[in-house]
Amino acid sequence: MGTYQIGVLEGDGIGPEIMEETIHVLEEVQTQTSNLALHFKYLPIGLQAYHRQGVTLPRETIDSLKAMDAGILGPLSTHAYDISNSNMVNPSGFLRKELDLYANVRPAKTYHGVPSLFSGIDLIVVRENTEGMYADRNLYDHSGEFMPDPDTVLSLRLITRKASKRLAKIGIELAAARKKHLTIIHKMNVLRKGCGLFYESCQKIGEHYPDIFIDDYHVDAFAMHLVQHPQDYDVIVTTNMFGDILSDQTAGLIGGLGLAPGLNAGDSFLLAQATHGSAPDIAGKNIANPVSEILSAKMMLEWLGIRHQDPQALQAAYAMEKAVEKALADGNGTKDIGGNLSTKRFGQYITQSLNSLE
Ligand code: NAI
Repeated sequence: MGTYQIGVLEGDGIGPEIMEETIHVLEEVQTQTSNLALHFKYLPIGLQAYHRQGVTLPRETIDSLKAMDAGILGPLSTHAYDISNSNMVNPSGFLRKELDLYANVRPAKTYHGVPSLFSGIDLIVVRENTEGMYADRNLYDHSGEFMPDPDTVLSLRLITRKASKRLAKIGIELAAARKKHLTIIHKMNVLRKGCGLFYESCQKIGEHYPDIFIDDYHVDAFAMHLVQHPQDYDVIVTTNMFGDILSDQTAGLIGGLGLAPGLNAGDSFLLAQATHGSAPDIAGKNIANPVSEILSAKMMLEWLGIRHQDPQALQAAYAMEKAVEKALADGNGTKDIGGNLSTKRFGQYITQSLNSLE
């Protein structure tokens, strides 16, 4: 029996709305799958936790997650957090570092029934998640941004061989199970040492996989190739900030962030988390698209299934994906993808689609 302890972290903005539908879909798939038990535990996080407990990431949340198999995290309104307040850490960045979730896996795929700029896109951006340019991740203590005087800022970027190699390994193993094409994205014409080390580390891993076609681009040129012929790519590995930007771009190519799932993966923990932020412009209106979070949870089940060699978890993940595809193909989703359903109604529709799968 595949039994999994799953932490549920609703997040800010649209987080609670899309999480509610995600949990409904997971509960439904669980009832349909024999020998699969998902035990959910809601854990405090974000602005709600701050208002109740005075801290955006309570210690109990971190400790509970460490004893679990995986978690599902909603987006966080990090822009609104006061960085001078040590009780308002960015939970997302902190958890990625603390739980060593070094690969942020962000697929982008076109779906029948969803208007998009292209058809036939099926790629994955694999973004390094624990270092790079992001100030909350690249030093042991304090921020990686410095102000020598009020008119000057220095931002540090951290690249290590270890992080680059383990990221490349995740990327290349994904490629091996897919179209056998790995693309390394860097900017080593300018960032010669940092991006040079990243590129060299990826190539080194690639030497062990002679069947995989490996190419590479400077990030600026690649941004253009991606909008001209995104169907040509399979798995893209890159450093933290480039991956963050490119994965929103690939979301735009397939119809928007409401369709963009993600998984933060480490060797011993998985944290599902959609690509987007807390969407304050639509929060509380019951119009956010829950697909991004539902497919993130589907990725979590899939990876649990692979790691635990659990066919039931794999089957449940497959059913979730098929139910989403079926609901999208009917052409009536939330507003962001041209439909008129509310978050709740679309979530129910996906849950019902699970019941009518052949
Ligand atoms: P965002 O990703 O929240 O929103 C960008 C656009 O996409 C908005 O128009 C929004 O309405 C739309 N959108 C996003 N998710 C959607 C969904 N599920 N359904 C329909 N439309 C959706 O980016 P933004 O506005 O730059 O950031 C808002 C807040 O989120 C900020 O506080 C930012 O710091 C935070 N943020 C948090 C992230 C995280 O927790 N992982 C990632 C990115 C931003």
